[in-house]
Amino acid sequence: MKKRFQGKVAIVAGAGAVEDGLSNGIATAVTLAREGAKVFAVDRDLDRARETQRMIDAEGGECTLHQCDVTDQAQVDEMVGACVSRHGRVDVLFNNVGIHIRGCLSEEPADFDRVMRVNLNSFFLTMRAVLPHMLEQGRGAIVNNSSVAGIRSMLPTAGYSASKGAVIQLSQNVGVTYASRGIRCNVILPGYIATPRVSWRIAHEAGDDKALYERKMAERATQVPSGRFGEAWDVANAVAFLASDDAKYINATSLVIDGGLSASTTGLPW
Ligand SMILES: NC(=O)c1ccc[n+]([C@@H]2O[C@H](COP(=O)([O-])OP(=O)(O)OC[C@H]3O[C@@H](n4cnc5c(N)ncnc54)[C@H](O)[C@@H]3O)[C@@H](O)[C@H]2O)c1
Repeated sequence: MKKRFQGKVAIVAGAGAVEDGLSNGIATAVTLAREGAKVFAVDRDLDRARETQRMIDAEGGECTLHQCDVTDQAQVDEMVGACVSRHGRVDVLFNNVGIHIRGCLSEEPADFDRVMRVNLNSFFLTMRAVLPHMLEQGRGAIVNNSSVAGIRSMLPTAGYSASKGAVIQLSQNVGVTYASRGIRCNVILPGYIATPRVSWRIAHEAGDDKALYERKMAERATQVPSGRFGEAWDVANAVAFLASDDAKYINATSLVIDGGLSASTTGLPW
């Protein structure tokens, strides 16, 4: 296998999964490790990220777990310091943390603020903390996880949509501002990805009704021109590409990973 990250150090922020199963953070951390990266796996809840470390260890890769709430500036600064103390550098930052609360304008203002803090402000804090190290190295690749909800109205959730839209513009601004100093910053926009968070949410909506759950999943899959949900590996492969030198001339741009969903006019709202 091509080892695009041999000798490189990658911070994955939000490296766990809110429910058991394969999340975007786990799949990406494993993919980067398979290609040689020393993964610094960051999560607010270390128990949620133990599976990430277990999978990487089982394949002979290197993964350090680090607890950090990425909405807290002091913790973020300490986390990046710990990564640099351990590995001497940071080559890749994947900002993957994200939460959503349903409701659009019925969201409580405090919930709206919380979603913005987690989904947007935390990306600002982590990028700000890695920046001096990447500037000193003269290189670095940042990939931020937005969503097609950042460009299309998909679910009734004001904070999620607004934060994901803002992440796109934040990423473009960072990519352009630091391009001449060797730093690239790109953003991914996943669509319907079959991660535990999504299946849990649909299961929650369906209650105990298994048939309803299956119907809701199938309904969403048929909205996608490709006819199915994406896998967390689809997200991981895109992140690895953007973070690697294969994408060395790709900067300040967005990569949609949605099986054609956002380009289609037939998709239904959730
Ligand atoms: N699954 C999808 O269909 C989909 C689609 C579009 C975008 N996304 C985005 O992908 C990202 C990951 O989603 P997922 O469903 O794969 O993962 P997930 O929600 O299952 O896991 C996210 C991880 O982030 C951690 N986390 C949450 N808040 C944190 C904080 N403040 N500090 C540190 N860690 C924190 C959680 O403990 C968890 O381990 C999110 O940004 C989400 O918006 C997902």
